[in-house]
Amino acid sequence: MDDIPLSPAVYIVGAGPGDPDLLTVKAQKLLAQADTIVFADSLVPPQILEGIRADAEVIPTADKTLEEILPILIDRVRSHKSVIRLHSGDPCLYSAIQEQMQALFDADIPFEVIPGISVYQLAAARLRVEFTVPGLVQSIILTRISGRTQVPESEELSSLAAHRSTLCLYLSARHVETAQHKLLQHYSAETLVAICFRLGWEDEKIRVVPLAQMAEVTQQENLIRTTLYVISPALSAATVPYGSEGVNLNARSRLYDPQHDRLFKDHPTSE
Ligand SMILES: C[S@@+](CC[C@H](N)C(=O)[O-])C[C@H]1O[C@@H](n2cnc3c(N)ncnc32)[C@H](O)[C@@H]1O
Repeated sequence: MDDIPLSPAVYIVGAGPGDPDLLTVKAQKLLAQADTIVFADSLVPPQILEGIRADAEVIPTADKTLEEILPILIDRVRSHKSVIRLHSGDPCLYSAIQEQMQALFDADIPFEVIPGISVYQLAAARLRVEFTVPGLVQSIILTRISGRTQVPESEELSSLAAHRSTLCLYLSARHVETAQHKLLQHYSAETLVAICFRLGWEDEKIRVVPLAQMAEVTQQENLIRTTLYVISPALSAATVPYGSEGVNLNARSRLYDPQHDRLFKDHPTSE
């Protein structure tokens, strides 16, 4: 792999869900070269750091406040170092990067954001399910339940559930009973839920259960830390078995239907 010419700057990098093979090529190159790596150790497993320089400075942040992290980033760049600020998944989702970027901008520190694979994408791959099945579901909602961070009232889980879309629920395992109660206001009790625990980690676990059992199974199996829930009609429509659960799908994508306009077939992105 060719090197990237690194300058003294902060690179806000998405590490993906945890499997080092799911790092982007750019993330791998940056990790192999950076002087300092400041990383969210509660959500990024240590194997992500396997390819870093032996003399790289590594700073975990699980026990640090924003007020403690920012001076580290700013100080290192002012000392002409390249710094990676490593977040799990994709940094645009629940990574608290807005305030970091604002502070870097205010301090005149150059920074760049490098996207990563978010866990909901790995969930779809592991489940071997398309989250947008024609005639069934065409939207994906990425959301969370209110915890220490409040969700605006207009985005309350019970109102988002009314769409009965594919709903990917982050940061909610500790409030799973409340989440299940709100979801049941709109999804049927039989709707399948994939409980995705630590995808891409060595102790990864996936349980696909009816919505009515979402809280019970989470608690029984202690799937509390680092869990994504996927609630979707697409799960019941899956053709390809995942674990013991595969059932049949009748819908097929119009994109590759022989009746579908050639123009769209040749240029799928034009839809
Ligand atoms: C602070 S958010 C970070 C999300 C991350 N930016 C992303 O795009 O995946 C942490 C939450 O994301 C989900 N999560 C992150 N990594 C995960 C993984 N490897 N397996 C399952 N859920 C994960 C969980 O819901 C967890 O509570």
